[in-house]
Amino acid sequence: LFDATAISLGAIIGAGIFIVTGIVAGLAGPSVIVSIVIAGVIASFTALNFAQLSAYMPREGGGYEFTYRLISPYAGFVAGWMWVFSNVFTGAAVSLGFAQYLMTLFPFPLLPVNVVAAVFCFAFTLLNYVGVRQSAMVNNALVVAKISILLFFIALGLSFIHISNFEPFMPRGLSGVFEGAALIFFAYGGYARVTTVAEEVKDASRTIPRAIVLALAISTVLYVFISFIAMGLVGSQSLAASDSPLADAIGVTGNAAAVFVVSLGAMIATASVLLMTILGMSRMTFAMARNGQLPTFLSWIHLRFHTPKYAVWATGALS
Ligand code: ALA
Repeated sequence: LFDATAISLGAIIGAGIFIVTGIVAGLAGPSVIVSIVIAGVIASFTALNFAQLSAYMPREGGGYEFTYRLISPYAGFVAGWMWVFSNVFTGAAVSLGFAQYLMTLFPFPLLPVNVVAAVFCFAFTLLNYVGVRQSAMVNNALVVAKISILLFFIALGLSFIHISNFEPFMPRGLSGVFEGAALIFFAYGGYARVTTVAEEVKDASRTIPRAIVLALAISTVLYVFISFIAMGLVGSQSLAASDSPLADAIGVTGNAAAVFVVSLGAMIATASVLLMTILGMSRMTFAMARNGQLPTFLSWIHLRFHTPKYAVWATGALS
């Protein structure tokens, strides 16, 4: 259950809370907290569907398999390739986000950021190739680290918040709140990631639904506290003007080490999202190939590593 929950948490907590929160603060003001709750409630509707469906049909490929079997093979094909394709972009985006943060913290003057991003993406593709157990172990460590850093952010920031930063609470009214909710929904993406590896989870019919609900609950509670503290620290205008809103927010404590730790948290978070993105894409591609909707070799399994070797490399290479 721990590994399974961490797979979804690994995929969920990333650029959304570390970066998009700033953009949403610009739209919704301090009511970004309400936007986060609305997005979380909406995510829970889909998440509960995924929980129920995976209890009934714990098959590799998750949402693709549900659509393929319960609606039609054609609908499944459309859902599958769109999911994989959108995640190719997520993989590329979080690789670039990671590289950007890495080069800010430790500049390598001769290397362009996209080369660093590609090397990082290659390394995580290799990890996915070597085995799901190894990937899960690395992911567990990344998830524990990123949640610890977010808890540190909350604990340190709490005594520095100013209530005046919460006024006016809804500068753009309800429309700002709902536009914010639509954008911050990105931060919840990944709650059903564990369904894509359903055949690799022990006692999947029981474990997966619990993992989905736990992952969504943990991330929603964290997001509410983080946005509350960030807003209380610097207010919506500073958050909106920043590319690294959480690192800048903790900066008002005057603690340079805390800024470093929170920036490191952003790198760790984007790393885990990338790891779990490649995992999800490869399993979705595997499931589509197994059903004859993509070339068969994409469903071939490595004899020793037990991973869908060509699906891993094909999707990792695309990112
Ligand atoms: N939920 C993922 C993130 O916030 C996509 O990075």
